[in-house]
Amino acid sequence: MRYRLSVVLLMMAFSTCLVAQGNIHERSSHYEWPEDTAVVRKLKSWQDQKFGVLIHWGLYAVPGIVESWSICDEDWITRDTTRTYQQYKDWYWGLADSFRPTQFDPWQWAQVASEAGMRYMIFTSKHHDGFCLWDSRQTDFTVARRAFADDGRRDILRHVLAAFRSHDFLAGIYFSKPDWHSQYYWWDVYPTKGRNVNYSVEKYPWRWQQFQRYTYNQIEELMTDYGPVDLLWLDGGWVCPQNRGQDIDMPRIAAMARSHQPGLLMVDRTIHGPYENYQTPERTVPEQQLTFPWESCIPLSDDWGWVPRPRWKSAQRVVNTLIEVVAKGGNLVLGVGPTAEGVLQPEVVERLQEMGRWLKAYGEAIYATTTTPHYHDGDLWFTASKDGRRMYALLALPEGQELPATLTWKTNVPRKGSAIRLVGSKRKVRWSLRDDGSVEVLLPKGLPAESLALTFEPS
Ligand code: GLC
Repeated sequence: MRYRLSVVLLMMAFSTCLVAQGNIHERSSHYEWPEDTAVVRKLKSWQDQKFGVLIHWGLYAVPGIVESWSICDEDWITRDTTRTYQQYKDWYWGLADSFRPTQFDPWQWAQVASEAGMRYMIFTSKHHDGFCLWDSRQTDFTVARRAFADDGRRDILRHVLAAFRSHDFLAGIYFSKPDWHSQYYWWDVYPTKGRNVNYSVEKYPWRWQQFQRYTYNQIEELMTDYGPVDLLWLDGGWVCPQNRGQDIDMPRIAAMARSHQPGLLMVDRTIHGPYENYQTPERTVPEQQLTFPWESCIPLSDDWGWVPRPRWKSAQRVVNTLIEVVAKGGNLVLGVGPTAEGVLQPEVVERLQEMGRWLKAYGEAIYATTTTPHYHDGDLWFTASKDGRRMYALLALPEGQELPATLTWKTNVPRKGSAIRLVGSKRKVRWSLRDDGSVEVLLPKGLPAESLALTFEPS
């Protein structure tokens, strides 16, 4: 009996990890609400922000290639065929000698993101390639000790956080649990096959302990030397105890981190449990409204980092995604990648500013709103004020379409005799109840062909 139970438990643990390992887009309804009241408070305030920016920056910006992954030998990754794998890796590590972002200006990034209506930020302190964008004392593989060492701004993370905090952003740090540069993770004695640790943790416990210590110490630096941090976004869900014993002792890390940063949100991606304070569907929006905290992460182009000739999403498309995400109860964090010189390209700035203009007019229907049981009707999405006194109907106008002359919806009927207004301009619109009980709104003529929001008192 006991044996059977432990087999079942083992299988359960393993399947959680397979989810984490195999398909990081997978979501599950398993969510554990935090008990720590400071964390709960932070979580609620984070949920109110709705829109954030996720900045990927690192060595990969120099050639403009996929972030870190090209040094991993998995099948889906294409690499140039003129070099051996080892030559390729050496070339990649060598990029640390060219990453010299002389035009690095986080104040401009923060200014633009703030104008875009973004309210929180997450910055890659270290991606899977292990290159640190802060002055870590645990390794020399940091921007502060390589090509940028003689620059006053070399401790990049410090300046990024300061700039965004000055615009009242919640501060988030992205940190990759796997570290492909560390000899404690990818040990040169063995070939590297895939994304995982490349030696047997069981056979070399000392080496793995060194990795645990390395990770702990790095996170401790981030939690103690860089001012207030609101969330720690831990990527690389395949690093978990059930997968080849890759246990970095998250309970100990979390306790340390929160002793320095009370109320810190831990986002141990895809590891459902006490350290995944919100879920992070990647490049997708969940099918349905979810009742626990979550955030879709979606890049503005097809890539997280800067690449030459990107394919951009339009501002309207991102606005529409934001509308859908918020009506379903989530947040949206939009990915952008500065160039290796440290600049946000004009195409990024333009799109962010356009979103900002929209949010300036219609943000009341987005920020600090809550969900409503009936939240979707065609291109219309619904949100509500937290006190329940106002409802919002948001039209996510499909790209390339003109505004319709009328909008109709069922359920979410306004109180009899009350006004429906355009959010922003406060302009009243004409509306009536049809015989079948649905609402019909006449949109004023001359409105720009863009998404919009209406507000009314629910009945
Ligand atoms: C995935 C990718 C990683 C990227 C992240 C952003 O986890 O592995 O490269 O940074 O998504 O959401």
